[in-house]
Amino acid sequence: MMKRPRRLRKSAALRDLVAENRLSMNDLMTPLFILEGEGQQKEIPSMPGYWKKSLDLTVEDVKELWDMGLKSVLLFVQVDDSLKDNAGTEAVNDGGLMQESVRAIKEAVPGMVVMTDVALDPYSSFGHDGIVVDGEIMNDGTVEVLAEMALSHAKSGADFVAPSDMMDGRIGAIRKRLDAEGFENTGIMSYSAKYASSFYGPFRDALDSAPGFGDKKTYQMDPANAIEGVKEALLDIEEGADMVMVKPGLPYLDMVCRVKEKSEVPVSVYHVSGEYAMIKAAAAQGWIDEDAAIMESLLSFKRAGADLIATYFSRDAVRLLKA
Ligand code: PBG
Repeated sequence: MMKRPRRLRKSAALRDLVAENRLSMNDLMTPLFILEGEGQQKEIPSMPGYWKKSLDLTVEDVKELWDMGLKSVLLFVQVDDSLKDNAGTEAVNDGGLMQESVRAIKEAVPGMVVMTDVALDPYSSFGHDGIVVDGEIMNDGTVEVLAEMALSHAKSGADFVAPSDMMDGRIGAIRKRLDAEGFENTGIMSYSAKYASSFYGPFRDALDSAPGFGDKKTYQMDPANAIEGVKEALLDIEEGADMVMVKPGLPYLDMVCRVKEKSEVPVSVYHVSGEYAMIKAAAAQGWIDEDAAIMESLLSFKRAGADLIATYFSRDAVRLLKA
């Protein structure tokens, strides 16, 4: 036999030498769930080993993440039901939990790249990403609030705003609003090809943000569609997105690959809560090797072409990369 591919797999050292893709801790973003109050922490039942914490404890975590070599956090907040309405009032409050969190984290760890979630669902009495009118999610009115919300995050010192709502035209509107107020250096990471997915279940439990009626299928994408995901990414880039994202991760690796092929901006992928839960649950049963499954999943994102990866396993990845 002239060609024997197995020759390149003979030893661990040789496999390392010819590896086409590598995971690095420079690729990782860590999502954080922030609670009101002080000294509060709660493990998320559907995400064993993952905690939501009040800001004081979150700041300590961010210091630790930075010391480990992690370079970015993606912030999500859980606000009290009494602050939720159908207008996003609390979302644009300069003194709100998100805005306060950005200020505290940037002050404690100035080097950390802080990205904020921009969408109305944690603030919505309906649990929807936009304003509801007659049972429908209004697009343009929502976009105005999202632009205001992004501005409020930028004023607090966010490095990037990350719109995860999937309204049409929001990237352009946010870019315009930020520039008009002198925040031309605040970046936008757009959740561009974000699918209406069952894999967000544990996240919605964590933030108590599940939709009160219906589903998110009139704004998040149909899992049947691929070309449309590329269109969404290209539209966002045209409107000024500095990075685009595909979400969820493993079920949409084809989309990471397709979007990467067509984009000239960094492409990120979100390894979402349900994917975390699946690995944790199977590992707890002894059905899969947790560490191996984590690293294989993260490496597959690199192979598909992702530049950045948001994952609840970032600490594990650092531990395993150093091992
Ligand atoms: C909200 C938002 C969601 C996630 C990130 N931002 C949930 C949703 O769209 O319902 C999901 C993240 C995860 O599941 O880990 N706009």
